[in-house]
Amino acid sequence: MTQREVPLQPVRSTPSTGGLASLLMRRRSTRDFGHRPLSIEQVALMAWAAQGRTTGERRSCPSAHALYPLTLTVIAGNVDGLAAGAYRYDAERDVLTLVAEGDHRDPVAGTTLVDHAWLREAAALLLLSGDVEAAARHFADQPPLGRRGERYVWLEAGHASQNVYLQATEAGLGAVLVAGFDDDRLLGLSPAVVPSGQHPLGLLGVGHPA
Ligand SMILES: Cc1cc2nc3c(=O)[nH]c(=O)nc-3n(C[C@H](O)[C@H](O)[C@H](O)COP(=O)(O)O)c2cc1C
Repeated sequence: MTQREVPLQPVRSTPSTGGLASLLMRRRSTRDFGHRPLSIEQVALMAWAAQGRTTGERRSCPSAHALYPLTLTVIAGNVDGLAAGAYRYDAERDVLTLVAEGDHRDPVAGTTLVDHAWLREAAALLLLSGDVEAAARHFADQPPLGRRGERYVWLEAGHASQNVYLQATEAGLGAVLVAGFDDDRLLGLSPAVVPSGQHPLGLLGVGHPA
């Protein structure tokens, strides 16, 4: 007999308290950040979760053809052990390189489409950008021609964002993905904030919840 409706709750095993299901249950977008600084270790953990290397050349998030077209820029403002500045994350070497000195949280948060004043209070902003052109060229022979690569870049940014959310949840930190920003205004900031030739994809505020 075919069942049209199959209730899953009775057959699903109960999520363990420390497992992934528990993290998924507890993950929430945080928009109320406290003043406590993040530690450099916590920033290192977030950067690794977003784009870090795992085995060999592979990374924490999946990537079509293992192309890895994303770049992570850490906009640090209130991080113990890390001077305020914009830093590029080199996933291959697991290194942050300073690309612009000073606290860029305010101008970056100011590019949101609606007022996100609270985003300025996040101890660090993680900016995900991607080389859409390179991905479009790489996947040029896959339909829809010329557009497949761009889709893959956006999808990958979603994976990286969820990694940050889950890692933040596990570490007792708050995170929020903000994708409602004005691309042109963001691109018009210090050229170091978004790498040249890249498209801004998402901005994650991370910090201690208030
Ligand atoms: C693609 C995407 C874009 C988002 N953009 C914003 C944003 O611009 N501002 C914001 O406050 N939240 C943004 N969010 C977070 C959502 O508002 C949030 O996930 C939703 O309200 C559900 O709440 P939860 O994350 O706590 O489950 C975005 C989420 C996604 C997936």
